[in-house]
Amino acid sequence: MSKAAPATLDSLKQKFQTREARIGIVGMGYVGLPLALLFSGEGFRVTGFDIAEEKVETLNSGRSYIVRILPEQIQAAQKSGFCATANYAHAAEMDAIIVCVPTPLNEYHEPDLSYVTGTIESLAPFLHEGQLVVLESTTYPGTTEELVVPRLESGNRQGLKVARSADDSGIHVAFSPEREDPGNDTVARHDIPKVVGGCGPVALELASAMYGSIFRRVIPVSSPSVAEMTKLLENIYRCVNIALVNELKQLCMRMGIDIHEVIDAAKTKPFGFQAFYPGPGLGGHCIPIDPFYLSWKAKQFDFHTRFIELAGEVNTAMPYFVIDQIANGLNEHAKAIKGSKILVLGLAYKRDIDDLRESPSLTILELLRDKGAKVSYNDPYFPTVGRGRHYDLNMTNTPLDDLSQYDAVVIVTDHTTYDYKQIVEQSRLVIDTRNATKGIISDKILRC
Ligand SMILES: NC(=O)c1ccc[n+]([C@@H]2O[C@H](COP(=O)([O-])OP(=O)(O)OC[C@H]3O[C@@H](n4cnc5c(N)ncnc54)[C@H](O)[C@@H]3O)[C@@H](O)[C@H]2O)c1
Repeated sequence: MSKAAPATLDSLKQKFQTREARIGIVGMGYVGLPLALLFSGEGFRVTGFDIAEEKVETLNSGRSYIVRILPEQIQAAQKSGFCATANYAHAAEMDAIIVCVPTPLNEYHEPDLSYVTGTIESLAPFLHEGQLVVLESTTYPGTTEELVVPRLESGNRQGLKVARSADDSGIHVAFSPEREDPGNDTVARHDIPKVVGGCGPVALELASAMYGSIFRRVIPVSSPSVAEMTKLLENIYRCVNIALVNELKQLCMRMGIDIHEVIDAAKTKPFGFQAFYPGPGLGGHCIPIDPFYLSWKAKQFDFHTRFIELAGEVNTAMPYFVIDQIANGLNEHAKAIKGSKILVLGLAYKRDIDDLRESPSLTILELLRDKGAKVSYNDPYFPTVGRGRHYDLNMTNTPLDDLSQYDAVVIVTDHTTYDYKQIVEQSRLVIDTRNATKGIISDKILRC
């Protein structure tokens, strides 16, 4: 196993420019794998690290486990030297290592940083002087300095410290938030500006050089904490605004006003307004979770983040609101949820992706089942749904035929593969939580 020779600041910067630098990416998930392909596509030799042996095996055999990543993309990367490994000893061969491991909440709704600390503890023994380590996982301000730096220093076999100035030798450490929006191809990945905060000016310069070789614009900030907080501000902004439209949707329904028509009109204002859309609740690994990293950290400063708590309250109540609307819709047909045959359309937390994490559809399925409905689902991305951290379902995908057999069809995720006109025509009652049936006129539709 050949160790990368210690690089001086200039020589490492040069290696980023010439694409000779070897890049290690830890965590081959929804963030890490696309990032690996991005670096590989730009001519870097990339090694993907993951503890999940089956992912390593799948990637090394040129296959993919993420729907929007094609096997051909993995194979093309392999031709440029991409490979995956579960062996952290290979970290010694890298010039830069980017960490993209999960940052979930634990059962008490507190930050679970065990993936980050576990990764850093595994990496630390193999690191050598002059390497760059960047954390990309979303987390509260202070994580890089308080959790990453001490573990890198105490776990390093060579006793290296984190370099703080141009005169220091050691490991360079930075934080750079991931801003990917899965399923959104309107902005090319390299056009999304990359925010970077370093533990000292040299780390900042190196991380900026690395990302500058891929991304068109790098936004340097004064510290890792500023970069960590930037990501949380972005996600809290979304979470709070989604809660706002979810609440106003409920008011609009009572007032007989179509919230979507209101949003469409409001977004014609060329300044001071950004459109957010209501739905059945929040999903995904980011928006329902990240804000609570900050509210947890805020308590250390004797501070209560009321907007975050309120937005969380409104957003988590949305699946229950959907259940009420299903009950209302069925009531119009003199039926109850108990005993009714209900089909849930779309499980993913948003359209056209194969990600089920924190999806409101899971709560909706469980609530319907617990209330005695004969519930089934259709989602082209999930042949089965089993158990997860917060749900226990044992269901199989139902084909989309004979929709007239259902008392209600509930659109939870508006995948573009669905033919909504046909769905409305064939169904007896459609509960539309996404405005997917926009423009279709039918008294069978209950939009909520
Ligand atoms: N998914 C998104 O859209 C998105 C967007 C922006 C930011 N983020 C953030 O990026 C981070 C990663 O999210 P993700 O969606 O890619 O998660 P993911 O669960 O899809 O992938 C994480 C990967 O890390 C691996 N892993 C876990 N512990 C490991 C360890 N000790 N060593 C090596 N590999 C390990 C897992 O096996 C998995 O393959 C999170 O902090 C998330 O908040 C995610």
